[in-house]
Amino acid sequence: MMEDIASHIMDIVMNSVTAKAKNISVTIDKDPGANTLALAISDDGVGMDRETAQKVQDPFFSTKTGRKVGLGIPLLKGTAETTGGSFALQSERGMGTLIRAVFDAGHPDLPPLGNLKDTFLVLIVSHPDVDFTFRYRVHGKDFLLATKELKNELGDVPVNHPEVIGFLTKYLDEQM
Ligand SMILES: Nc1ncnc2c1ncn2[C@@H]1O[C@H](COP(=O)(O)OP(=O)(O)OP(=O)(O)O)[C@@H](O)[C@H]1O
Ligand SMILES: [Mg+2]
Repeated sequence: MMEDIASHIMDIVMNSVTAKAKNISVTIDKDPGANTLALAISDDGVGMDRETAQKVQDPFFSTKTGRKVGLGIPLLKGTAETTGGSFALQSERGMGTLIRAVFDAGHPDLPPLGNLKDTFLVLIVSHPDVDFTFRYRVHGKDFLLATKELKNELGDVPVNHPEVIGFLTKYLDEQM
């Protein structure tokens, strides 16, 4: 099992980056009424055909060469199912992929959220060509960051410019 939800997000989003996604969306929703934590990650990358989408949920499959085991997806699925939650993967070739994991927020095996701020920051600045949408609705907070809007504001200044990184760090600290 991975230490925290943020590590799962990093892994699943890196799959989307590898799949050449230009738009990646991450939503974390904690529903205090139903006591669930829902994570959804969608992308517009190359997608998978039906057979591959099934296979990748099995820990003994990977398309990466030189190694036989892909673990990102099975680990997230395992964590969700261990906490009495659910896991779903929808994908279509040429369209993209949607992964949704629901955890029982009260389950003792639920990993902590981890450092979401740094995870988002690292993803944004290390993939300046990808547009990210991060939405975080937990503990009465509703945080939304769309890098497309940010990039429009920035004009010619790159999103990984040191001053922008400083701004983003502060913004995430204050708003999330
Ligand atoms: N968003 C996606 N779009 C297209 N294909 C994907 C996507 N996510 C996963 N895949 C396919 O599923 C495979 C398994 O993914 P998984 O994260 O489980 O393992 P991995 O990325 O191969 O290895 P690891 O995550 O352990 O480094 C990937 O190799 C890739 O072929
Ligand atoms: Mg992976």
